[in-house]
Amino acid sequence: MIYALVSHKGGVGKSTLATNIAFGLSKESDVLLIDTDEQGSSLDWINTREEETDLTVIGFPKKKIHKEIEKISRAYEHVVIDTPSHSSSLVRGAILASDRVLIPVQPSPYDIWAVAETVNLIEEIWDLKEVPAVFIINRKIVNTVIGKDASQILNDYGLPVLNTHICQRVIFPESASSGRSVLEFSSEARLEVDDLIEEIKSL
Ligand SMILES: Nc1ncnc2c1ncn2[C@@H]1O[C@H](COP(=O)(O)OP(=O)(O)OP(=O)(O)O)[C@@H](O)[C@H]1O
Ligand SMILES: [Mg+2]
Repeated sequence: MIYALVSHKGGVGKSTLATNIAFGLSKESDVLLIDTDEQGSSLDWINTREEETDLTVIGFPKKKIHKEIEKISRAYEHVVIDTPSHSSSLVRGAILASDRVLIPVQPSPYDIWAVAETVNLIEEIWDLKEVPAVFIINRKIVNTVIGKDASQILNDYGLPVLNTHICQRVIFPESASSGRSVLEFSSEARLEVDDLIEEIKSL
């Protein structure tokens, strides 16, 4: 399965979720994490890491990734693609290369309105390839119902919202700073990311 983390809005958690989802999947399968963002967050993350990992991470900031994805991903059971915010051509290539699009969105009205651009691009691509897309609520404030409210508003876009919400937790930046995943620490975030991966696999 090839998953692309996509959103035109910056800082919504594409790289955070891409690295954690890829890391989680790599515990049971051969996984390739492809960083198509020239900013290279996923590459920085793996390069900071000192511990061994089974996860393979490469940089591939090419807009024609969909033409090469079969060759690149042949040896892997799962591929996770991290994408940039500001290059529609790179994002388009990543969507065309994927089997599923995962759209992280923060539960605030501004973020929900801003996601329209991403949904429009996905719908435009459906003329060429009908790639299913889902929203993932990320950075929900613990013990608030804003995630539920956000899910209801997001429903108007006509794409499903995953039941698992990822909360705002300091362990995400903390673990990333040493190239690790929240899954390597005992934390609420670990439980949420485990649930998220199970839900994504069951789609
Ligand atoms: N659930 C979370 N809890 C706490 N911090 C988070 C969470 N998700 C993301 N962050 C933090 O938010 C910031 C932006 O996240 P990230 O870099 O993953 O977003 P992005 O969508 O990849 O951004 P860009 O568009 O610049 O590539 C980072 O500092 C990250 O550590
Ligand atoms: Mg990023």
